[in-house]
Amino acid sequence: MIDKVDFFKINFGKYEINDIEGYKKLGGFQALEKSLNNGNEWIINELKSSGLRGRGGAAYPTGKKWCQASKVISSEKIIICNADEGEPATFKDRYLIQYEPYSIIEGMIIAALTIGANKGYIYIREEYKYLHKQTQCVIDICRTNGYLGHNILNTGLDFDIELFSGAGAYVCGENSSLIESMEGRSGQPRLKPPYIKQSGLFNLPTLVNNVETFSAATSILRRGAKDFTKYGTSHSKGTKLISLCGNVNKPGVYEVPFGITLREIIYSLGGGISNNRNLKFIQLGGSSGALLPSALIDVKYCYSELAEYGASIGSGAILVVDDSNSLLDFLISTGEFFWHECCGKCVPCREGNRQLLKLLNNFKVGKGTLVDLDTMETFSHVMKNASFCGLGKTAPTSLISSFRYFREEMENWV
Ligand SMILES: Cc1cc2nc3c(=O)[nH]c(=O)nc-3n(C[C@H](O)[C@H](O)[C@H](O)COP(=O)(O)O)c2cc1C
Ligand code: SF4
Repeated sequence: MIDKVDFFKINFGKYEINDIEGYKKLGGFQALEKSLNNGNEWIINELKSSGLRGRGGAAYPTGKKWCQASKVISSEKIIICNADEGEPATFKDRYLIQYEPYSIIEGMIIAALTIGANKGYIYIREEYKYLHKQTQCVIDICRTNGYLGHNILNTGLDFDIELFSGAGAYVCGENSSLIESMEGRSGQPRLKPPYIKQSGLFNLPTLVNNVETFSAATSILRRGAKDFTKYGTSHSKGTKLISLCGNVNKPGVYEVPFGITLREIIYSLGGGISNNRNLKFIQLGGSSGALLPSALIDVKYCYSELAEYGASIGSGAILVVDDSNSLLDFLISTGEFFWHECCGKCVPCREGNRQLLKLLNNFKVGKGTLVDLDTMETFSHVMKNASFCGLGKTAPTSLISSFRYFREEMENWV
């Protein structure tokens, strides 16, 4: 049995959503108060020493990102909270929005203070419609209580937040496509540079962070980086929210310390494989993540060890797949997702996804050959190296990992 960890999940559901006083009683806005007292350098140093890395997938160090954003000179800057959460099997941001929304807003206010931003947006996915009203209500309560708007808490800081509903495209989670869609164009990624930290929404310097990143930053600044780094490993510090799903007895959102093994996650937290089946593989980080075979169940859940096996933390999704599932069907359904979600801007992704799906379907009807397997492997690597954005680069990850761990099974498709 592993110890329960709740570094920043601690307040989940412990106060009513319209009860800002309840949030304050649990330590709410203490991080903002400390930040106002200690100043920007302290905020950035705490975040740097906490080792917090962005929770949206790319794992960029948050302290470094805020530091870079603070150095850009502009009288107007924007902050965007990326609540698009379009990665299949990922639902941890939804929990934060539902059960701990004030911590997200507090994190955004502190980010605004740090980088000198005056306008913020929460870009929330259209499918979370049932949370829009509640989130708007929390924003309004924060404004009424002086935490948003003009001259926040008499500090001279002007910062307000607007809710923006996405239109339901996976690629719009990528920060430049997200900005394109906010400006009224179709969601397609921008050529970089210029990077959005210099020229983002409406050509203004823009900081984009994931929901969990803002919430974790609040908890770290409230409780101190030292408290956070009691958990985790030397390279992957602290804790992380995961969304555990698939063929497990107890799916859900859990907070885990980095360094926990996949076995502990699946068997201790998740209660084991459902229907007494055996584990076949685990997909980490959503549909854009790698498949790890059951033999790797004792691998540690942390950035460095997963990288050795071609996997990554990604969005924090952990999809458990039992031995009643067909690898081919799984890869076809992943392929259909990427073929559907590809924005069409570049050839490697647009054509690559189409061809991969066609070849996978050939195996389904008994027409695939060993040459087709080699072609799929080549196409996967071309897509990974030549696609314009992260969608095309990671679309073939599940296939690439299948070639690494399930080649023999794939050859039996012929
Ligand atoms: C295809 C694609 C989809 C993405 N979807 C999301 C998403 O839903 N939420 C998110 O926070 N980041 C998503 N990202 C990552 C963002 O581009 C960006 O790195 C992130 O929001 C930065 O925040 P962080 O530093 O806090 O992780 C996506 C990236 C790609 C390439
Ligand atoms: S990789 Fe795919 S999603 Fe990204 S720009 Fe190219 S076609 Fe669009």
